[in-house]
Parts: sequence; structure tokens; C-alpha cells
Amino acid sequence: MSSKGWIPNYALDLTVTERGTLSVAGCDLTQLAKEYGTPLYVYDEGALRRRCQEYYRAFADYSPGALVLYASKAFLPLAMAELVKEEGLGLDVMSGGELYTALQAGMPPERIYFNGNNKSETELSEAVEAGIGGVIVDNFHELAVLDEIAGRLGKVQRVLLRINPGVEAHTHEYIKTGQLDSKFGFPLLEGLAVEATRIALDSENLRLLGFHCHIGSQIFALDSFEVAVETVLDFAARVKAKLGYTWKELNLGGGLGIRYTQDDEPKPVAELVKRITEALVVGCQRYGLPLPKLLVEPGRSIAGEAGLTLYTIGSVKTIPGIRTYVAVDGGMPDNPRVALYQARYNAVIANKATVPPDKVVSVAGKCCESGDMLIWDLPLPSPKSGDILAVFSTGAYTYSMASNYNRLLRPAVVFCKDGESQLVVKRQTYRDLLRGELSLNRRD
Ligand code: LLP
Repeated sequence: MSSKGWIPNYALDLTVTERGTLSVAGCDLTQLAKEYGTPLYVYDEGALRRRCQEYYRAFADYSPGALVLYASKAFLPLAMAELVKEEGLGLDVMSGGELYTALQAGMPPERIYFNGNNKSETELSEAVEAGIGGVIVDNFHELAVLDEIAGRLGKVQRVLLRINPGVEAHTHEYIKTGQLDSKFGFPLLEGLAVEATRIALDSENLRLLGFHCHIGSQIFALDSFEVAVETVLDFAARVKAKLGYTWKELNLGGGLGIRYTQDDEPKPVAELVKRITEALVVGCQRYGLPLPKLLVEPGRSIAGEAGLTLYTIGSVKTIPGIRTYVAVDGGMPDNPRVALYQARYNAVIANKATVPPDKVVSVAGKCCESGDMLIWDLPLPSPKSGDILAVFSTGAYTYSMASNYNRLLRPAVVFCKDGESQLVVKRQTYRDLLRGELSLNRRD
């Protein structure tokens, strides 16, 4: 806990101003709410950069080198892609849209890797044409299609094969991916992954760089990653024995957990990197394999804690003896994670940062369904209409998953740094809602 008592420490620069309001990176949140309106996604730009640097530096001692690919899906407006490029990271993309954003931001193509279990032919062609660092092939169908596309375009495409390690990651059912019964990757069953390797090696227009695995997201138990490393090592050794192939690259995906509430105790990036590199060094020796270049794809652990969402409180309704609902001007359209994954958040009132909580309330969104809740049973200091609520740790999988449900407008995004705020995404307007929609009565 921080010196602010009820405000937990997050990986962003939070301070209480002389006026008793909360500020991020020197920007008073109540002023930001006035200037840009609410709901508003606010990021500490320095915190985003520090997280990138932490990952970048953590691999300094790993001698074949490493490439950190920020997982675009967590949060990728153009400004974020530019920031990631400036920090020397690459990008993990999983759609033509993410690839387009990465290229528009000037990301060098060789630092882009393409994930996904059902990439379209158009997406694969775009990736091959751009000359990206690697396509992470997920299934037999894709192996055939990609070989054909690369051949047609007269190119040789570098690929990794996504292996499903069958590792149980202790996280929410919907965000774990490495278990055997999964839509992702080649299962390590009945020689399927070895067969995929053989096909990749035989494909004229593909060059196999190595293997990829991703076990899930919001993971605290680092031993899950070690088990994944061990499983992939065992597979790489079998491939070497059967096909004489040795890897050049290994991509271990993302998944490191972050702090949402005081109950979360996330592990430092450096510890994750130490554990996986040690497991790899020891394992490669044991199996007689060369150390591969290492790739990782962190998303949440870069963007998550660096962002928060501001809302204005509207109605406050007390049901005597039951609960008090505090409604805000956003909800599931700007943060669907509560409805989807039962995610838990913490929040404070930004204009009452020095006032201790005296009530337990539940924060509701404004959509027309009971499931649109943001936080159950949150201690707050007498919330009133007009107060500005700051919900922490909303930097990942909020803006990127936002919708226009109930035709609510998508909020703006601002980056804060040294007391200055910069608008990086404009708030949508009603006109934006109609963009691309055609009248039944049009005459064209
Ligand atoms: N690599 C691959 C192949 C992935 O599928 C993912 C996340 C990542 C990297 C990044 O994982 P991270 O470091 O962010 O945990 N919408 C969900 C999370 C879904 C994660 C999907 N894949 C949520 O809001 O919790």
C-alpha cells in the first residue's frame, strides 16, 4: 500500500495535489476530466516507457539476444505503436488492422510477428508483402495457404510454428490458451506437431525459424512458464532427433499478471525473464540444443497498470439494507472485462483523494442491462453526483475491446507526461456513429 493509504501502488506515477485531488504524471485528474470530458482513458506515458525498458533490459544478459514484441491486442492506438517503436520493441499483431497500424507507425517490418488461429488470405498476403519478421503458423491449413501465397508473391516467408504445450495456467477460463483442448496451435499429440515441422521444412516458400507457445494471460505463477519451457524443449529435442532440425528462435508468448486490486501480487518482469532464461539455458544444455534467440509477447504487463479510466458519477441510489449503486457515465462499452471475465478493479474519487472511504458502494455502468457493473462493494468517501471516479489498472484490454453498445461514444485517450497531457485518440462524436452507415432512402 502507498502512503495514500487506500490507494494501492500501481506502476504509474500517482500523487495527491495540494488541493487534495489525484494526479497522474503531474496532471491533475479533475482538470483532465474538465478539459477532455469523461469517460476518459488516461495513461502515464513514462510508465508505459518504463515497462518497455524493463522488458528490454531484462534480457541484456541473455547472449543469443531477445526481441520483445508488445502484444498489440492489449492497446494499440497509433501513438502506442509509435511509442513501442521508439523504445526498441517490436509488435505482435494478430489481424490486418493491427498490422496496418504497426506499419503506419513506421515499425520496421522485421520487428513484426503475426499471430492468430485463422488469418485470412488477405491478411497473410499483406504480411508477406510487408516482409514481416515472422508469421506464427497456427495450423495445417495455414501452412499450405501461406506457402502458396509466398510462392505467388515470389518470397520466402519466415515462420514459427505455434505449439500447444498443454500447460495449465492458473487464470480465468477464457484467457488461458495453452491447455490441450484449445483452438490454438499444434497439439503435442500423436506426432501432429512433428508432422507440422516436417511440412514447414519441406515447404519451398517457407523458412522455419522455430517455435512459439503462449499459455495464457494474467498469470502470477511463474512455474507455469517454466513448465512451458520444459515442454517446448522436450519437443525441440524430439524434432532434432527425428528430423535433424534445430531451432533458431523460440517465442514464449505473453501472460505476466498485473495488479488490479490490493489482492494481486504480480511478479516483477525481471523475475519472469530470469526464470525463463535460466530454465532455457539449463534445459538446452541438458538436451544438447543450441540456445535460441528468444521472443516474448507481453501486452497487459506493459499497458495495464499505466492506464486508468475517469468517469463522472451521476445517480447514486441506495436500496435500504441492500446496497448503494453509484452510476457512472460509461461502463461495459469502455470496459467489457467485468462482464466478460468477472474482472475486479479498484477506484478512488479523484477530487477527494485525501478523504478516507466511509461507505461501501457498487459502481454501475449506464447500459441497459444488469450485468453492466464495474465494481462491486467498493469503499468510497461519500460519493456524490459530479464526483470524478478514477478506476485503476484499465490500461490493457479496455480501449482495444471497447464497443459502441447502446450507441455510447468511445472515450478519448490522453497520455500524460511531466505535467502535460496530450490527446492521442479523440472522443467519438455522434457523426462518427453514423460513419459508414447508409440510409435506406439514399439515391445513389
Ligand atoms: N501472445 C499471444 C499469442 C496472445 O494470445 C496474447 C494474449 C498475448 C501474447 C498477450 O498476453 P498478455 O501479456 O497481455 O497477457 N481480453 C483478455 C485477455 C486476452 C488475452 C489474449 N491473448 C482480458 O481482458 O483479460
